[in-house]
Amino acid sequence: MVKIDSKTRFIGLLGYPLGHSFSPIMQNAAFKSKNINIVYIALEVKPQDLETVVKAIPKMNFAGFNVTIPYKIEIMKYLDETDDLAKFIGAVNTVAIKDGKMKGYNTDGIGFLRSLEEHLNIKPDGKNIFILGSGGASRAISMTLAMNRARKIYICNRTFEKAEALVADINKRCGQISQVVPMNNERMAEAISEADILINTTSVGTHPDVDDIPIDKDLLHSNLAVCDVVYNPRKTKLLLVAEKLGCKIMSGLGMLIFQGAEAFEIWTGVEAPANTMFEAAEAFYNHSV
Ligand code: ATR
Repeated sequence: MVKIDSKTRFIGLLGYPLGHSFSPIMQNAAFKSKNINIVYIALEVKPQDLETVVKAIPKMNFAGFNVTIPYKIEIMKYLDETDDLAKFIGAVNTVAIKDGKMKGYNTDGIGFLRSLEEHLNIKPDGKNIFILGSGGASRAISMTLAMNRARKIYICNRTFEKAEALVADINKRCGQISQVVPMNNERMAEAISEADILINTTSVGTHPDVDDIPIDKDLLHSNLAVCDVVYNPRKTKLLLVAEKLGCKIMSGLGMLIFQGAEAFEIWTGVEAPANTMFEAAEAFYNHSV
């Protein structure tokens, strides 16, 4: 951690309950490596105290904060300004404080995109993308992909109406840059056969149900890049099966690190030391996840 003195500023992580989080470990490693006098601290805030805490934060020496479950939507009503992408997504995970004003951003989708570029050398432009799930993670990723000129985005959900609602929202907010199609399990084979990238945003495959897989494995093909937002385990059953088929694969850990790297850059204006953040997260991971 940096040496704390009278000039030290803070970044908080607001959520409830917080449990184990990678963010304090990786952000403090990043501030130290760049010699920036900021300390990142976890702030577990009960729902009835959220308003009081959020209104007090800009009155103290905070440079900003991250927001996690369950406050990513509720926080928006307390902010002075919200970045366009966060408005489209309808959720904020990062807040920067400047001259006492709070501005909200959403770095989850950008984190996914940076991980895709850094780890798999893939850009979304012109790609056909098949997304499983239509919850919060799917929303951040699909909106960001649509804003970054993906060709076609299929959104497949167990509850079809939720896929339809997300598709309608993307079309309304992102000006139909990409063709976005809702999908149910019956029609997925053809869509996956023409997809370049498949992304699991459901919780299927996470601990303790590590043998679960969110789709029929016979639908996978070796031209697919297969990505999972699940990072526990590091390689889900979906990724293990895809890897065996010769697919490029990407774990959810990359998205987690790069959403943090993006937030670091918003707070400091300094390029994030992504490798340092990865090493810190991996060390934490090996000990506690
Ligand atoms: P997050 O914020 O992590 O995206 P969420 O908003 O609760 O979490 O969304 C979870 C997504 O995973 C939803 O699309 C959910 O499908 P439903 O809308 O039908 O509930 C999907 N999901 C969760 N468990 C699932 C399962 N066992 N099989 C298929 N889909 C599942």
